[in-house]
Amino acid sequence: MNKTIIELKNVSKSFAGKKIIDQLSLEIKERDSLMIIGPGGRGKTVLMKIMALIIPPDSGDIFYYGQNIKDLSKKEKEDVQNSTGMLFQNYALFDSMTIRENVGFFLDYHTKTPRKEIAERVSHNLKQVRLEGVEGLKPAQLSGGMKKRVGIARAINYKPDILFLDEPTAGLDPITTDSISKMINRLHQDLPVTFISVTNDMGCARKIGDKLAMLYEGRIYKIGPKEEILESDDAVIHQFVNGKRQGPIRYHEKI
Ligand SMILES: Nc1ncnc2c1ncn2[C@@H]1O[C@H](COP(=O)(O)OP(=O)(O)O)[C@@H](O)[C@H]1O
Ligand SMILES: [Mg+2]
Repeated sequence: MNKTIIELKNVSKSFAGKKIIDQLSLEIKERDSLMIIGPGGRGKTVLMKIMALIIPPDSGDIFYYGQNIKDLSKKEKEDVQNSTGMLFQNYALFDSMTIRENVGFFLDYHTKTPRKEIAERVSHNLKQVRLEGVEGLKPAQLSGGMKKRVGIARAINYKPDILFLDEPTAGLDPITTDSISKMINRLHQDLPVTFISVTNDMGCARKIGDKLAMLYEGRIYKIGPKEEILESDDAVIHQFVNGKRQGPIRYHEKI
């Protein structure tokens, strides 16, 4: 049994009086590739940022390797943060920088790694995401799929133990979604890294990861092996997985 790497206990977060995350508990095991699904605008990005220690929760506890984050010194907390990498939903690449500068950003600005070594590491990471020869280009010269790959190359550049992927295929066509998903699964096989992804796209959720969790009404409603969740006859899961308008999940959109 793999050990627990991250644990959230009764975590809550509100914005403007509205509870987005509500007494949520979740355990992530080492080497998991967990995909969290849920309707848009209901807290997936917020949950991911709470797990990555980017947004503090209003209440509840977060444990990394069994240690409560609240008990860590500033330096220890920074070490934990530096052991994670993130692909942001909207890429968050620097438009004025080259791909080499974007991917090597952390090592350039936060370590004394020699430039030559950074350049080699950047090219290696780009190869890992199946991109080559783009080091001198700017983000605007790349397609959406290529920018996702660059975002992932940057996230793995400083060898994280945990990789967070926020909507790794959002805005991509089905063929690009397929190839990015395969690349992500291969990366998970090749690297000693725990993957945590979120998406509202079932096409993406079916392809990436081996465990599936559903975020619903601010909590982890269900979590388990992917096949088990996909085949669940629970009304909430069934509605979302199969894209039905009728069911317990309330949408504001009119048809
Ligand atoms: N920094 C913030 N300030 C105020 N409201 C926020 C902030 N971040 C997220 N929210 C709100 O929290 C809700 C969930 O957002 P988010 O996690 O981005 O949803 P999604 O599930 O689409 O990723 C949304 O209603 C959003 O408006
Ligand atoms: Mg989001």
